[in-house]
Amino acid sequence: MSQVSGAGLVVASRVPGRTADPSLVDGVRARLARRGTPPTDADVTAAVRAAGTVLGSRALAELGTAVRAEVLGAGPLQPLLDDPDVTDVLVNAPDDVWVERAGRLERAGVDLGTAAQVRELAVRLAAAGGQRLDDASPTVDARLPDGTRLHAVLPPVAGGCTLVSLRALRQRAFALEELVAAGAVAPGLAPVLRALVAARASFLVSGATGSGKTTLLSALLSLVPGDQRIVCIEESGELTPDHPHVVRLLARGANVDGAGAVGLAELVRQALRMRPDRIVLGECRGAEVRDVLMALNTGHDGGCATLHANTARDVPARLEALAALAGLDRAALAAQAASALEAVVHLRRDGGRRYVAEIAVVRRDGSGELVVETAVGVAPGGVPVRAAGWAALARRLGA
Ligand SMILES: Nc1ncnc2c1ncn2[C@@H]1O[C@H](COP(=O)(O)OP(=O)(O)OP(=O)(O)O)[C@@H](O)[C@H]1O
Ligand SMILES: [Mg+2]
Repeated sequence: MSQVSGAGLVVASRVPGRTADPSLVDGVRARLARRGTPPTDADVTAAVRAAGTVLGSRALAELGTAVRAEVLGAGPLQPLLDDPDVTDVLVNAPDDVWVERAGRLERAGVDLGTAAQVRELAVRLAAAGGQRLDDASPTVDARLPDGTRLHAVLPPVAGGCTLVSLRALRQRAFALEELVAAGAVAPGLAPVLRALVAARASFLVSGATGSGKTTLLSALLSLVPGDQRIVCIEESGELTPDHPHVVRLLARGANVDGAGAVGLAELVRQALRMRPDRIVLGECRGAEVRDVLMALNTGHDGGCATLHANTARDVPARLEALAALAGLDRAALAAQAASALEAVVHLRRDGGRRYVAEIAVVRRDGSGELVVETAVGVAPGGVPVRAAGWAALARRLGA
């Protein structure tokens, strides 16, 4: 279906899945680009008017929404991201788009047109996130202006069409009570999590991909007293703690000349000079593990990070693998980690459910090996069950 406006512009979907005429969108985009500053919603509406369309107020509002999605947002994917139940949007091909809704993957009935249009969309989104995506730099990890996390890969590195993965960002952290109400934190574990933060214990939030680590860490950082300064070090600025004193350091890649990269390890070292009360590493996934452990071992209590690990038992091996990247051997890592870290909060994802499965303590055993020992787990039905590490955790938390 298409409709011709008074100015002769076709405003309905000519390209499947696109809701506004591409030439109108391009014209509006060019008009906004000349301004040189990030456009606001009002600017977009003004640019639509200035493009010469003579429309009724309702049609103008509809067109404005479609153009805004194209110019400011994720285009035809924006309505999917706007659904509060959708956490991820995955594009495999123009007519192969998936969403994760309430923890389950399902096909989205969206058609993005051609492979070239998917590529164009990915390149534009990368640019909106301040990154480039082209044949010389065919992968991108960026954060869009509205906080959505973008990952994209161009072919031939992507085997087929351009692959786009979007992770919707909640604008507001969940409060711990909300996570309890949603069944993500067993009621009996909430006081332990509160005590971890209050006692300035240093801890890791571990879990598999997409298990809710960043979400839980944001909720826990929201519990940090307001008179403490939190320095968050991240790749893409996903942590959204509800806290009055948070500053962020964001890593960045090299520019076209291969210069200007600022990595996480460097940022951890910079953070030490910024009078942090809490050093937070959004995701520990490389050699920066050495720097963060060193920071936590030099008087910076109460720091935390997330770490990919399938079970809490896997945390030592995962830390060892990352430490090896920094040239730290197993014994040195065990010594550093056991004195730097006090607890691991592990998340599990079963089907559509994400929940805290256990809280464990970090220590070295008699032979010097790094051990993560369950202090409190969760039985079916959400009942907390104390385990061998409980006494050590309770001592540390003063309970
Ligand atoms: N308890 C929850 N209830 C509802 N949605 C949740 C919950 N925990 C996380 N989510 C949603 O699930 C998605 C994944 O969560 P999050 O980004 O915290 O996971 P992650 O483990 O940090 O992922 P990654 O491994 O990619 O870093 C997000 O969109 C988030 O809003
Ligand atoms: Mg995360």
